[in-house]
Amino acid sequence: MPANNTDDHYARQLININPVTKTAIKDAIAEFNPPPGSHGLDAGCGTASKSIWLADYIQPDGKVTGFDRSPGLLAHARKLVDENGYSGKITLEEGSISSLPYEDNTFGWVWCCDTLWAGGERLGFGDTVEVIKEFARVTVPGGMIAVVFWSSQLLLPGYPELESRLFKAFNESTFYTAGINPEHHSMKTLGWLDKAGLKNPKAKTFISNFQAPLSERIRTGLDLTLHMFFDGLKEHIAPDDWQHLQGLMDSGSRDYILNNDDYYGFITYTIFRGEV
Ligand SMILES: C[S@@+](CC[C@H](N)C(=O)[O-])C[C@H]1O[C@@H](n2cnc3c(N)ncnc32)[C@H](O)[C@@H]1O
Repeated sequence: MPANNTDDHYARQLININPVTKTAIKDAIAEFNPPPGSHGLDAGCGTASKSIWLADYIQPDGKVTGFDRSPGLLAHARKLVDENGYSGKITLEEGSISSLPYEDNTFGWVWCCDTLWAGGERLGFGDTVEVIKEFARVTVPGGMIAVVFWSSQLLLPGYPELESRLFKAFNESTFYTAGINPEHHSMKTLGWLDKAGLKNPKAKTFISNFQAPLSERIRTGLDLTLHMFFDGLKEHIAPDDWQHLQGLMDSGSRDYILNNDDYYGFITYTIFRGEV
């Protein structure tokens, strides 16, 4: 099925943000440490960028199954996998993570990044703990499960009050964070792993640092990140903040923050892992 426009736009966002997330995620993969030659599941793989980084880590004989419910994103994933020569290492399949079409003990490990956002009931996959139990069912005893999330950022250095007002507005207006039960927040994943019966749950945070002069790929990724978080906030912040933000985010403005010679920012990813 061809990707629709929304999927195309979303896929482009996911792919262009990769340079920004790459260091943090690759360090999280090293912490996860899937064994060379293993076969793992990338649950909610999107465009399969992380499937590729996982496949690199378990080379030369490792295999990854990328699994997602979106046919449009899977079409982009197939293109990325084929164009980069990974079709022998990565298989892509469609379905819902709440009911995986695999036998018990199929995989050596499961990786799930930026997918089990707060409150599965709002995102249509049900109880998050049940989804993690499903990951455990398809994983061999002793195998590892990783649930990974974008966890924090500094994007507007020098403007801490503005940035915190923006993220307050973002959290209050985004459907998967607004007014959620604290137990459903992504940073409570250690508890989800424990409730799902996984052994020895552990959490660790990794960072991508960005310092001027920014490469073109990092600049593009950060620009997209700024717009992804803040573009929808006009109705949720004061008019003065909105106007200020436009100058900082507009690449044609002399106040464009990514042009600052002393720009420094970061984003972090947190990996939560446990053993079956
Ligand atoms: C923010 S994207 C992250 C994609 C990828 N893991 C990454 O890190 O780039 C979330 C992905 O989860 C997928 N997803 C959400 N709910 C799902 C479900 N119930 N079953 C399978 N995939 C799902 C979406 O289609 C989307 O590709």
